[in-house]
Amino acid sequence: MSAHGAPAPLTARRGGPLSGIAEVPGDKSISHRALLLGAMAVGETRITGLLEGQDVLDTGRAMVALGAEVTGHGAGRWSVHGVGTGGFREPGGVIDCGNSGTGVRLLMGAVATHGFATTFTGDASLCSRPMGRVTEPLALFGARAVGRSGGRLPLTLVGAADPVPARYATPMPSAQVKSAVLLAGLNAPGETVVIEREATRDHTERMLAGFGAAVATEATAEGRVITLQGQPELRPQEIAVPRDPSSAAFPVCAALVVEGSDVLVPNIGLNPTRAGLFETLREMGADLTYESPREEGGEPVADLRARFSPEMRGVRVPPERAASMIDEYPILSVVAAFAEGVTDMPGTAELRVKECDRIDAMAQALGAAGVDVAEGPDWWRVTGRGPGGVRGGATAAARLDHRIAMSVLVLGLATREPMTVDDAGPISTSFPIFEPLMTGLGAQLERPAP
Ligand code: S3P
Repeated sequence: MSAHGAPAPLTARRGGPLSGIAEVPGDKSISHRALLLGAMAVGETRITGLLEGQDVLDTGRAMVALGAEVTGHGAGRWSVHGVGTGGFREPGGVIDCGNSGTGVRLLMGAVATHGFATTFTGDASLCSRPMGRVTEPLALFGARAVGRSGGRLPLTLVGAADPVPARYATPMPSAQVKSAVLLAGLNAPGETVVIEREATRDHTERMLAGFGAAVATEATAEGRVITLQGQPELRPQEIAVPRDPSSAAFPVCAALVVEGSDVLVPNIGLNPTRAGLFETLREMGADLTYESPREEGGEPVADLRARFSPEMRGVRVPPERAASMIDEYPILSVVAAFAEGVTDMPGTAELRVKECDRIDAMAQALGAAGVDVAEGPDWWRVTGRGPGGVRGGATAAARLDHRIAMSVLVLGLATREPMTVDDAGPISTSFPIFEPLMTGLGAQLERPAP
């Protein structure tokens, strides 16, 4: 089912080259954090370039339920009147985070050190995802959670009225878990410490520093040790959200596999904790260049130029790179299908607990299109069929997962027979302008006849 009710199937078919400029929306991770930290500062935070996707809008609504004022001024411009650290009030109803794991996990962190109860729910995808990974460390602060079996949503979190700070080593590479602990630490006295063995996206740390919190990151033999001094006074900010590399991945990869294409994707955030896909594509032999590299708002940024790349080869993606491209494996598997040779993707167990089991979803979709995929609990492998070598001609299930839906459609732009996704509705969670943007580049996307 789409986010808006009835499923909305969409078909992609091979056509002419893709060309032009693809202006993708704001970064989803940074947009969630801008609303959350804006709501925890005293005074008005102004945001430009906010992603107006459903996931982020749901977080904005949650901020209002917790007492902040959130106002949209059109075209990605928003303002947030924050309530200050520790200033959230008990919400009057259930907080519905829709499809968003990031939204619910960060919010749980933010309320865990407030002395009231919050009940969270979400769609069928979110209600199937593990929340123990967040509620366990939040218990160290004194918060208690009661959820369905396996700690799943709907879930009520009773925040600690008298929180203590925590020290926590994340057992899996997860920026959501790290961020939940740091956000809880904001309203605990003393030092909260998170240790992560592998670096995950560091937007929370960067933005906390921008809002004036004392947060320090140290590289040690244990991994990255992040220390936050609790109960800071957060100062409101002007935040320009960079464009999302995870959304840029779709027009970039489409250009690489559609014959004759040449696409420019300007102003993309290239934080090293996010840019693993582009590095991998270049290792595969993709014609992908970074033009005018520069720094904006504390984040590295460049214009990406992608051209049709008929000579890509499969590679082994190093497992230590997985965290920096965790959302990009589905679209990488599509590029791998059009490369020569095998692409190995070890160290990817986390893909099984995203909006859906993304290894299984892509194995099914690629398999239905005539591509060999092998998989194990924490690895998968795609055997490429070379440019023009993929049959297509199938319908694949989106499974309430925006990135699966977009990956299937990019696949269909280069297969011999069209590909249909059973529901393109979830795309609105992260990339609401995907369809007009892609058709503007020349992509053939159409609603199948009923
Ligand atoms: C995100 C972290 C990642 C990623 C998600 C966004 C974030 O999840 O998959 O889309 O904004 O912190 P995990 O923390 O589960 O790896």
